[in-house]
Parts: sequence; C-alpha cells; structure tokens
Amino acid sequence: AVEEHMAYFDGLVSADKRIEPRDAMPEGYRKTLIRQIAQHAHSEIIGMQPEGNWISRAPSLRRKAILMAKVQDEAGHGLYLYSAAETLGMDREEMLDLLHAGKQKYSSIFNYPTLTWADAGAIGWLVDGAAIMNQVPLCRCSYGPYARAMIRVCKEESFHQRQGFEILWVLARGTEEQKAMAQDAANRWWWPALMMFGPPDSGEQAKGGHTAQNMAWGIKRFTNDDLRQKFVDMTVPQAQKLGLTLPDPDLTYNEETGHWDFGPIDWDEFWRVLGGDGPCNAERISHRKAAHDEGAWVREAAVAYADKQAARAGA
Ligand code: 3HC
Repeated sequence: AVEEHMAYFDGLVSADKRIEPRDAMPEGYRKTLIRQIAQHAHSEIIGMQPEGNWISRAPSLRRKAILMAKVQDEAGHGLYLYSAAETLGMDREEMLDLLHAGKQKYSSIFNYPTLTWADAGAIGWLVDGAAIMNQVPLCRCSYGPYARAMIRVCKEESFHQRQGFEILWVLARGTEEQKAMAQDAANRWWWPALMMFGPPDSGEQAKGGHTAQNMAWGIKRFTNDDLRQKFVDMTVPQAQKLGLTLPDPDLTYNEETGHWDFGPIDWDEFWRVLGGDGPCNAERISHRKAAHDEGAWVREAAVAYADKQAARAGA
C-alpha cells in the first residue's frame, strides 16, 4: 500500500498536479515543505519590524497610512503561511517556539537596519521586488495550500514593490539631501537583496543545498542563480529610471547572453548573517519574543472564549 501511495504521489508530481493535505507524501517532501513554509511565515512576521520602525516617523499622514497597511499585509501573509504549514501536521505554537529558539530560520534580509525613511522605499523596491521574483513561481508549487496562498501574497507584494519604488522616485527628484538619502539606501540594500535568493547553485558556497531535490518535487521551479539573474535584469533598468546607481562596478550588459553581468557576492557575509551574527539578529528575535510574551493574554482570552462557546453548544 505504501508503494501504491508513493506511485500516486510521483504520478501527481510528474503530471504537474497539486498535492493536497489528504494525499500520501514522502516524509522528506513533508519536512522540506514545513521547513520552507515555516521559514517563509517567520520572514513575513519578522519582516514587519524593519518597516514598523518608520510608521511613527513617516513623513506625511498619507505615507503613514500606506506603510501601516503594508506592514499589516505582511502580518496577514505570515498568518496564512502558518496555516499552510499547519496542513502538513505542524502546530503554529511549535513553529513559533522553534523560531524563538533559533531552530527555524527567517530570511537573512531582515537582519539589516532601517536607518532613514529612504529605507522604507528601498525595502519595497528591492526586498519586495526580490520576494516577488521568488514567489511568483511558487504559485505553481506542487503543494496546493502553499501554491494557493502565494497567489494573494504576490498580488499584495506587487503593490508593496510599487509603493517602495514611488517613495524613492519622489526622493530621487527632491532636494540634494533627499537624493543622497535615496542613493545611500540603494547602496545598502542592493547586495543583501541579491543574497535573499540563497546560496549559489554550484561551487564551494553551494554547500549541498536543497535545489535539485526541490525542483524534482516541483516545489522550486527555478534555481537560486536563475532567479537572482532575473531579478538583476529586471531591476537595473528600474534603477536607471530612478536615476540611482547600483553599488557594483562590474554591472555590465552582456550583448551575447542578453543579461546583466554582476560582480561577486560576499557569501561570507551571508553565512555570517545566517549564523546569527548580522547587524540586527539579536534585536529582531528579542523584539519578537517580547511581542509574543506580551500577547499571551490575548491567546489565553481567545482559548477561554472558544471553551465557553463549546460548553454552551454542548449544553
Ligand atoms: N535567508 C535565510 N536562509 C536562507 C536564505 C535566506 N535568504 N537563502 C537560503 N537560506 C538557507 C536555506 O533555508 C537552507 O538552510 P536550511 O537547510 O538550514 O533550511 C540553506 O540556506 C541552503 O539554501 P537552499 O537554496 O538549498 O534552500 P531552499 O531550497 O529552501 O531555497 C529559498 C531557499 C529560495 C529562500 C526558498 O526556501 C524559498 O523560496 N523560500 C520561500 C520564500 C521566502 O522564504 N521568502 C522570505 C523572504 S521575502 C518575504 O518574506 C516577503 C517580504 O515582503 C516580507
């Protein structure tokens, strides 16, 4: 029977159909999805912090309303991603415990600080831009609940990307100080945004990696390097429109390949940040834990209310 189930799973994958929670699946498939979806959910929740930092200091009421809506969208994304992970048999409480204990990851990018208002623009433009490039193919991920969650997430991310671009557009056409602020933000976020796609496909820095297996399972549709290249090709013309330069002297258009070539990425920095030693790792986790502890009464109240409703229904 196990063999029959696995043949059914393989059949769904090779026919490019969706796997649903009721279907039998290899343990490795379930584990890798829990790892990726939990990591993705945590990224959305931790990702609220760098931009949340600017809500109270946004330069106008309109900017503040937009930024608040955007940060709330990230919370919503986190919540449906936790729900998607729960369909694989993992409890939300457990995922949060693993995050707080440093046993599940979140994206490297959220360990960098937001020093000026222009960073809200650079995050929207570059970080959400990179997130969309990575997440649009996930709408075709073989696991149904994850793929479906990605559809709405991607729509909202495109709005986020545009609002970030527009923040920088206005700054880049402002005073000399504002232009300098936009340029400084682009300088600081460019390389970490390229690292978001994960380690290179080959060479010493690849360090094993899940790509080949995840592509065979229809979880990943493109390799990390392919998505990174697509992102560079999309973003360079946008930087030119903004009138900002990207901090890479090696960035050149390659007539032969039709792609933008770029310089080497500092993978030591990437692994350092993953290891917990980025500029804001400690601050992000301690803020997250404090928010969790301060929210304990809300969770207790919700449980008490649910118990009361259940008791009434039973009476
Ligand atoms: N940050 C932290 N860890 C990363 C990483 C990054 N940017 N890129 C790769 N890694 C980790 C992997 O998790 C893996 O470690 P593990 O085995 O301990 O889990 C290791 O580095 C090797 O990487 P692989 O490429 O082999 O791993 P994957 O096949 O899982 O690919 C990925 C990595 C492309 C990031 C993939 O997991 C993915 O597509 N995830 C979903 C997207 C996501 O998580 N996005 C989060 C950032 S964007 C966002 O949250 C939206 C924003 O608007 C708030």
